[in-house]
This record gives sequence, C-alpha cells and structure tokens, in this order.
Amino acid sequence: MYLETARLRLREFVEDDWPAVLAYQADPLYLRFYHLTEQTAAGARDFVQMFLDQQAEQPRTKFQLALELKEDDRLVGNCGIRINDPEQREANIGYELASPLWGQGLMTEAATEIVHFGFEELNMRRIWSWCVAANIGSARVLAKVGMRQEGCLREKEFIKGEWRDHLLFAILDHEWRALQRPAVAQPAA
Ligand SMILES: CC(C)(COP(=O)(O)OP(=O)(O)OC[C@H]1O[C@@H](n2cnc3c(N)ncnc32)[C@H](O)[C@@H]1OP(=O)(O)O)[C@@H](O)C(=O)NCCC(=O)NCCS
Repeated sequence: MYLETARLRLREFVEDDWPAVLAYQADPLYLRFYHLTEQTAAGARDFVQMFLDQQAEQPRTKFQLALELKEDDRLVGNCGIRINDPEQREANIGYELASPLWGQGLMTEAATEIVHFGFEELNMRRIWSWCVAANIGSARVLAKVGMRQEGCLREKEFIKGEWRDHLLFAILDHEWRALQRPAVAQPAA
C-alpha cells in the first residue's frame, strides 16, 4: 500500500526502518505522553515488527504506514488506520512524528490522507481517535482533519506522575463527504 501527499510519502514499513524509528522515539519530547521513559533498539525493532506482522494479516485490518519526507527521503514518523469493527465499518487512526518537524502541518497532511483512504477505499462509516487532552498538537490534528470532539474521559490514565484526561474525536462518512464538496457560492445581495 502506498499513499502520497504534497510533502510526504506514506509507505509500508520494512525491517530496516527500525534505526530511523529509534532516532525519533528516543526523544524525551516525543515520549512525553507515553508510559515509556526511554526507547531502546529492541523496542524499536519490536515496534516495526508489529507493523510487518499486520501487513501479513488476512484479511488485513491494520494499515500503519511509515512517513517519509519527499525532500530528503527520511523516515520521520508513522500514520495509520485500524479497522476495529468491520461489521459496523468503524476504524480508528493513530500517528507520530519526529519532534523537530512538529507544527508545520505535516501530520494534518498525513492524517487527512489516511482518513480519505478509510472512507474512500476501506468504505468505513465512522473513523475515530483519542488523545491525551494535554497533547494539544494531537487534538488540533484531529480537529483539522474534520473530526468532532465527542467526549472527555476525565483522569483516564496515570502517565509519568499525572492523571491525564482523554479526549475522544470522530468523523462520520457523510460529514467527510460534505467537507469535500466545494462551498456553494451565495448569490450577491
Ligand atoms: C501530535 C503530533 C503528531 C502532531 O504533529 P504535527 O505535524 O506537529 O501536527 P500539525 O502541525 O499538523 O498540527 C498541530 C497543530 O497543533 C498546534 N499545536 C501544537 N502544539 C501546541 C501547543 N502546545 N499549544 C497550542 N497549539 C499547539 C500547532 O500550532 C498546529 O495547529 P495550527 O495548524 O492550527 O497552527 C506530534 O506532536 C507528535 O508526533 N507527538 C508525539 C506523538 C504523539 O503524541 N502522537 C499522538 C498520540 S494521540
């Protein structure tokens, strides 16, 4: 599977990707909202192996793709969609990016493409995600993709010494399609 945006290639992981994954996951800033306190080579290998295993599943339900910057072919993160309920046609998305690249709209670009794939190719009805409420960048990505906040799970998880709220977001297929239509021009008064 392969997708593309203006600045990114979204491609399948390969075994040799683990050092590039380790490079961004070893960053404490990246780890801020995760339980993990440090990433190791073994951890990064296992992480990549999980996606290789998902590629082989039949039928495949999880599509977690490596993000490669077109300008220099560097692997700088991942973004993917996972079908969690095929009968109800429901899936969720998840993503991560190397911290020096945050705030440039890159994950909004990737996540928009993944949601497009979910509705147009996987024929999903509802695509959702969640994030730690304090992870403002992630909540912004979900909102910019067109998702609506559906809930807040208060003090859901104890992470690195603090109880963290979770925010739930989702978008429905008809909401997505409405966003794709160009706005109808209003006649001049
Ligand atoms: C979450 C993450 C993927 C966002 O990626 P990104 O490429 O920086 O996202 P974008 O640039 O597309 O959008 C981020 C938005 O949040 C805003 N933002 C980020 N941090 C912010 C902060 N502390 N306060 C206010 N706004 C903030 C940015 O300004 C931008 O909004 P804008 O386009 O309206 O200006 C990235 O921070 C990351 O990988 N974090 C670590 C892993 C992670 O948390 N993954 C998600 C788990 S749910």
